[in-house]
Amino acid sequence: MKTRTPPPPPPPPSHHRPTLVVGASGQLGTRLVQQLSAARRPVRALVRPSSRQQHLRLPHVDIVHADLADPASLDAACQGVGAVIASATAVAPLNGSRFATVDDAGYAALFAACQKHRCERLVLVSVPQTPFDERIPLFRLRRQAEQRLAASGLPHAVLRFAPFMDDWFALAGLALATRGDAAPLTARPWPFLQRFMGVVGGLAERRGLLIVPGRADNRQAFIAIDDVARCCIAATRHEAALNATLALGGPEALSWHDVAERAAAVLKRPVQVVGTPAAVFALQRVLMRPFSEAAANIMALNWFAAQPRELESPAAAARLGVALTTAEQFIKTQAAKAA
Ligand SMILES: NC(=O)c1ccc[n+]([C@@H]2O[C@H](COP(=O)([O-])OP(=O)(O)OC[C@H]3O[C@@H](n4cnc5c(N)ncnc54)[C@H](OP(=O)(O)O)[C@@H]3O)[C@@H](O)[C@H]2O)c1
Repeated sequence: MKTRTPPPPPPPPSHHRPTLVVGASGQLGTRLVQQLSAARRPVRALVRPSSRQQHLRLPHVDIVHADLADPASLDAACQGVGAVIASATAVAPLNGSRFATVDDAGYAALFAACQKHRCERLVLVSVPQTPFDERIPLFRLRRQAEQRLAASGLPHAVLRFAPFMDDWFALAGLALATRGDAAPLTARPWPFLQRFMGVVGGLAERRGLLIVPGRADNRQAFIAIDDVARCCIAATRHEAALNATLALGGPEALSWHDVAERAAAVLKRPVQVVGTPAAVFALQRVLMRPFSEAAANIMALNWFAAQPRELESPAAAARLGVALTTAEQFIKTQAAKAA
């Protein structure tokens, strides 16, 4: 009996064609552009004309203007690119971004443009799979994008990341988490976010408080954004990422008590955790839905984060050759940066 030989895998992406970063003005997108530029890899940074972009004027970086809501602009942006890293989102929306045009139809249009121009590999920045995906708009849309990507036939990698330390520590009140960051999520001028940051921003430093979703002993596999960016860049070429879905988290599953303890050691003052019950977020999610889909999504994310669950840190980063930063190392490094 004849056995069919499977087709050979596509060759690993070359270094010659630029890597397209979609969502380059965002917090992760900026880190991707900075790391690729430092590694002297040609980068095409996709931003909207309205995006903050001055900080992306770096060596080896070509800034292109396009919009996920405008398929023709994506077609032009994808011409001649090698790998693509898709990290855009309307989670903290500016200038009219919406989930429907960015995370839903925008990603579908991006995949179509990548297919047309035979991009070498598309790396999708995704979120953990949970039993609650249908209740959290961002999670539901990432699952949908993952399915579209698998069905498209594009060479790809899906990276499902645990919560980013830089964001969640800052949102809990530890301001030093974003020191030195050229584009922190927490500084995006979305009024809902700015009102929240106006209340909690820097509470750890000022009052010794961390305001967290759920109980203080809830665990999360927090990962540093620099490591997230390293994983994404590794996945543009690594054999282990080709057409794979990888769950990626930091090196430890930490409780908020653990985070407070590490913050206290650096701040040289006691830090107390103040938990917010999941029911508060469940109610706010329902109340906000008619007025703001993005605010309701944030409440759904917090509701999920407030759920008690068994958690281990996902270990796939080692398969990509990325060594991970612990929360203690992250907090100490951040504290050493100028305020
Ligand atoms: N934070 C976490 O804990 C976490 C965990 C797992 C996964 N993730 C994922 O990580 C990714 C990156 O997050 P982030 O913190 O970097 O987000 P971010 O700072 O809010 O950046 C979002 C980016 O998307 C861009 N964008 C929005 N609408 C667009 C449009 N119509 N066309 C083109 N670009 C558009 C934004 O551009 P403008 O600046 O012009 O608005 C910005 O560059 C997201 O996909 C998120 O789901 C985050």
